Amino acid sequence: MTKRVAILISGGGSNMVTLVDSMVGDHPARPVLVASNDPNAGGLAKAAERGIPTAAVDHKPFGKDRAAFEAELLKHIEAAEPDILCLAGFMRILTPDFIARFEGRMLNIHPSLLPKYKGLHTHARALEAGDSEAGCSVHEVTAELDDGPILGQARVPILDGDDPDTLAQRVLRQEHLLYPQVLRRFASGNRDILHLT
Ligand code: GAR
Repeated sequence: MTKRVAILISGGGSNMVTLVDSMVGDHPARPVLVASNDPNAGGLAKAAERGIPTAAVDHKPFGKDRAAFEAELLKHIEAAEPDILCLAGFMRILTPDFIARFEGRMLNIHPSLLPKYKGLHTHARALEAGDSEAGCSVHEVTAELDDGPILGQARVPILDGDDPDTLAQRVLRQEHLLYPQVLRRFASGNRDILHLT
């Protein structure tokens, strides 16, 4: 049975686009919803252009009440009946209750070689540490931030003269290769770690 995939974004949605565009032909999944916590997220228009239903639930009016924000977001997600939830540049921390609801079927892409550099500013931290390589990870989402089982990683070199932006661009190109491949495997029931490069 074809798996139904909902994707959560907060920004430009370049990872979302690579996921959506990958789910064609004999792919075991299809996109059913792209939702954002930011009504102005550039990715919403890109999803709509591709004929994917979209939803926006602005988190700001909910202030610190994450549960109330999530309840509203959940209405849209549950109406789409997804089998798999993909976080793709979704920049809100989710409550344990929300995560429990999707346990074992929620993925995230994070711009570091986890377990290194959980949280924000991953590229600046890798540069400050003097690392010789960086990368990205796709992992299952669990209640601990950026901590669930790793499903795939891709590595890039850190080059002389890199700044956080040049490094982010190099890593993002790998994210676009890694995430679709991991999603395809995951939707087929394969949870082995995929190593690119
Ligand atoms: C990506 O680099 C993704 O790894 C990162 O945000 C960017 C979103 O870009 N995610 C996180 O930092 C999650 N904590 P996109 O909107 O173009 O896909």
